[in-house]
Amino acid sequence: MKEGQSSRTAEAAAALRANHFQNAENPVFSDPFAFELTSTGWKKLLTTSLTVKVINSSVFNRTFGLLTGQVVGRSRYAEDQLQAAIERGVTQYVLIGAGLDSFILRQSQQYPQLKIYEVDHPDTQAAKQRKLRQYGTLPANVEFVAIDFEKESIADALTRSTFKQDQAAFFSWLGTTHYLEPATTLNTLASICQIAAEGSEVVLDYSVDYRELEGIERLGTLFVSQFTRFLKEPLKGQFRPKTLHQAVEQMGYIVTEDLSGDGLSDRYFHARSDHIRHTVATHMLHLRLM
Ligand SMILES: C[S@@+](CC[C@H](N)C(=O)[O-])C[C@H]1O[C@@H](n2cnc3c(N)ncnc32)[C@H](O)[C@@H]1O
Repeated sequence: MKEGQSSRTAEAAAALRANHFQNAENPVFSDPFAFELTSTGWKKLLTTSLTVKVINSSVFNRTFGLLTGQVVGRSRYAEDQLQAAIERGVTQYVLIGAGLDSFILRQSQQYPQLKIYEVDHPDTQAAKQRKLRQYGTLPANVEFVAIDFEKESIADALTRSTFKQDQAAFFSWLGTTHYLEPATTLNTLASICQIAAEGSEVVLDYSVDYRELEGIERLGTLFVSQFTRFLKEPLKGQFRPKTLHQAVEQMGYIVTEDLSGDGLSDRYFHARSDHIRHTVATHMLHLRLM
């Protein structure tokens, strides 16, 4: 991330969620707050009829729609797993690299017993808190914890909060590992092991090696890497699934599920009339601490 600047990719992700909510017939993930949370520039684009027409056209959905699929698919997957964890009795939800995720606006009142920790870069967090002021006082079950993953461990950051190390927690870490060195991602997962109780869960998305992709997926990943470089948040982190599984299993996690892009398309984007599907460039990983 560029020092002193809130995350531009977080704004882009919120814009994709906003467009999907406003224009998709049967949204995979519904985020009514994403439009208000994104940047002025994105809002302008999303209210220009020509742009809206182009970005929701069939040609666009079959190509750039892979990006929308990735962004709404990961949020849907994470919140489906969160829901199941809450039903099992989990009472702590940690959103790592929360960006402009609107769970605290959409759902926090529905789960007053759930303590929510938003952990993010201080620059992104400060900008989000300014935007959140328009909604008045935030629910009492929300706490913000600032971190720079490249400089501090999540264990140290959460120690500054009311996070309870003796109670199981659900961690979601979406759209972030792609922008970190692989070692930073692995160190963060190892750090979660230090402070999370047995039974805690982690859901994250990760990029696979782009050299293993073909056709539009390979071109799309090259486009995304150029775009995020332009936004000063270059893609740095890719993993081979098997290597990643071995690394997290050595830390003490069980891999509950590693869902490929095609698996996500089958589960959430089956036979959509708008042809949006999930990219094969990223996977969803669900881990449990034993
Ligand atoms: C693409 S956004 C994803 C936001 C959100 N999770 C989503 O799915 O829309 C990437 C997030 O990673 C955070 N991030 C990137 N590098 C970071 C770092 N070194 N330390 C802390 N947060 C970082 C950014 O602040 C941003 O919120």
